[in-house]
Amino acid sequence: MFEKDDGAAQLTSAGDAFDRLVSGKLRALLSLCGPPLKKGKTRIFHGLHQDFPSVAVVGLGKKNAGINEQENWNEGKENIRTAVAVGCRQIQDLEIPCVEVDPCGDAQAAAEGAVLGLHEYNELKQKKKPVVTPQLHGSAESEAWQKGVIYAEGQNLARYLMEAPANYITPIKFAEHIEQKLRSFSNVKVHIRQESWITTQEMGAFLSVAKGSAEPPIFLEIHYLGSANTDDSPLVFVGKGVTFDSGGISLKPSSGMDAMRADMGGAATVCSAIVTAAALNLPLNIIGLAPLCENMPSGKANKPGDVVRAKNGKTIQVDNTDAEGRLLLADALCYAHNFNARAIVNAATLTGAMDVALGSAATGVFTNSSWLWTHLYEASILTGDRVWRMPLFEHYTKQVTDCPLADVSNIGKYSRAGGACTAAAFLKEFVTASHWAHLDIAGVMSNKDEVPYLRKGMAGRPTRTLVEFAARLSQDSHNAK
Ligand code: BES
Ligand code: ZN
Ligand code: ZN
Repeated sequence: MFEKDDGAAQLTSAGDAFDRLVSGKLRALLSLCGPPLKKGKTRIFHGLHQDFPSVAVVGLGKKNAGINEQENWNEGKENIRTAVAVGCRQIQDLEIPCVEVDPCGDAQAAAEGAVLGLHEYNELKQKKKPVVTPQLHGSAESEAWQKGVIYAEGQNLARYLMEAPANYITPIKFAEHIEQKLRSFSNVKVHIRQESWITTQEMGAFLSVAKGSAEPPIFLEIHYLGSANTDDSPLVFVGKGVTFDSGGISLKPSSGMDAMRADMGGAATVCSAIVTAAALNLPLNIIGLAPLCENMPSGKANKPGDVVRAKNGKTIQVDNTDAEGRLLLADALCYAHNFNARAIVNAATLTGAMDVALGSAATGVFTNSSWLWTHLYEASILTGDRVWRMPLFEHYTKQVTDCPLADVSNIGKYSRAGGACTAAAFLKEFVTASHWAHLDIAGVMSNKDEVPYLRKGMAGRPTRTLVEFAARLSQDSHNAK
């Protein structure tokens, strides 16, 4: 139910229809219960109708909520996602296996709330929560509902890969899981490149990280050909795929280190976005690149002060082995330039400093292209998985190129100051494309309770924004560059 400007309650049209079906009993019961439900608050009624043994009513907040200019998102959609997630979880707690969901005037947002809100990583527990299948109540808007299900399942795939323990999702397991998800699409090719291929590509920075681990590295390469013209310039996605980041010789503190199983969140979100684009049959070409390895301390690991050579010939002084993500990405970004891309977008859980800067409110976007920025930003307003533009100033470049032994250092010379920005400046050294964006997703990697329609755990953000962005690009055809 909505809250009208005068504070009175108003049922949605589906709520209204249900109330008529039960001869006004729903409305009568709700008014007996006291003042109208506040946003996200819920009441549950049993035995109102034989086909609907339990009915959860949830507050949707203000009627006519739309784009909120302060918050940079569509508040109406966010309210629906939240309310539907809360209602579905209530039904799940009652162990009812099927829930019909009120589309609340926006079936896509409602489906996203249902499918995201019910998701939980249950894989390895013997006692599992009951499975609840959300379905659209009524037959109108079924296309939008289905679209929402696909978007949310995409994000849930990224959540699944991020949440899974690092001994389950190793580089090869990650690649095989994605390959299996893409198997049914005839317009998708997946290449699982082994270490020998990575060596012939002269990806010395990536290999220097990988060699510290007993687990072999993989370079995953996905080609989705959705455009009518298979020669159309692709969108290239690149994702950091560190399946476990111990820090290496610059070892991380042990407290909270387990969260570094999600350090492949960049690879998980971009690959899930491509799986989703294929499911939606988006009319554009997308290439996905994911360098996958572990960052471990060992007798073969990088040592602070070591110098390695990236694919483009640049030498890198590894001053801190925990700044490993940028080493993988340096080589993957060089490789990304082989495809005459419309745009190169990389995602990475790159820096703790990004979390310090923005927390979990938004992904930090560092880009050399205002055209690209506008598309990402507009996509994020719709999805509610927000982005915020960050600087790529020469100021930061100087702090990584002032390096004693090599062309560039893998940390800024003022150590922690502007850590997310010096990391982005480092990546920029490996980019010549004029439409490139780096998304630092370290701050949005996990959810405590900030996003009400996601349970606690790895968040899979910003998969839906990447999908929406790709969908917009597919409409924007080729002239807008
Ligand atoms: N994977 C981490 C960044 C990270 C931290 C992601 C917390 C998610 C949550 C990254 O590889 C890293 O360790 N970065 C260092 C860089 C530093 C050594 C310059 C960091 O942020 O401390
Ligand atoms: Zn690290
Ligand atoms: Zn890392």
